[in-house]
Amino acid sequence: MTSTVRPTTAVVERASVSDIPELITVWWDAFGSEHMQRIFPQTPDGRLWLERAFKQFLGPAPGPNELKTECLIVRSPDTGIPVAIAIYRIVPAGSDAAKQSWRARWPAVDDLPDFSDAAVNGFFSPMEKAHAHVLGDRGHVFLEVLGTIEAFQKRGYGTALVKWGTDLADQLRVECYLDASPAGKPLYEANGYAEQDVSAIIEKQSAASMLRPKKSQD
Ligand SMILES: CC(C)(COP(=O)(O)OP(=O)(O)OC[C@H]1O[C@@H](n2cnc3c(N)ncnc32)[C@H](O)[C@@H]1OP(=O)(O)O)[C@@H](O)C(=O)NCCC(=O)NCCS
Repeated sequence: MTSTVRPTTAVVERASVSDIPELITVWWDAFGSEHMQRIFPQTPDGRLWLERAFKQFLGPAPGPNELKTECLIVRSPDTGIPVAIAIYRIVPAGSDAAKQSWRARWPAVDDLPDFSDAAVNGFFSPMEKAHAHVLGDRGHVFLEVLGTIEAFQKRGYGTALVKWGTDLADQLRVECYLDASPAGKPLYEANGYAEQDVSAIIEKQSAASMLRPKKSQD
């Protein structure tokens, strides 16, 4: 596959708890469509849920065979404010389905009236089904969230965050997986991901299941 390699100034770093307000700004900007706002409302409840989520992701490291979350950012070179985020899950081989489920990965919405648990479940469940169908219990690097503030898109920030994960997967010699939006798909294809056919188990997909094979032995 041919892809244009452009120089980028993007520096990928781990986010910290003090970045959480800006992480929410990036999330709300990148995922601000009407459809996404119906599921993840941009209201005080929506903010509280994201604060809880990011605190969970940036909290204490899990045990050695547990699913690990990495919350990464690229900052604006001018202001130092985060303008792009990626949330990765490093999934160990043999990890049980309950520990990988969206309910284990994300905070509950039960006490947040602006949310509908059915809507959130309707968002995550088909992707979860496709994901399990493609990977079973093989260890892998899962890129769960990628977003760049619109004003900072097309500068290579998304690519740098995608490459962080493919480099890690190559070191670990595991596959990479993600659920792609139409906006993200070309970027993922340029970085070695290919769409998987999950039509046997999912009737109407909202996102494309994409897998990147593990690096072959050199
Ligand atoms: C998808 C998304 C994360 C990409 O982020 P980004 O920071 O713009 O990514 P990049 O700049 O690395 O690449 C985007 C495009 O710009 C191009 N590009 C990269 N650097 C460039 C530069 N310096 N000049 C011009 N174009 C450039 C890339 O080649 C790529 O082109 P392609 O889409 O044809 O493959 C961003 O569009 C986004 O947040 N969208 C909304 C949320 C979303 O859909 N997220 C993905 C969920 S799976």
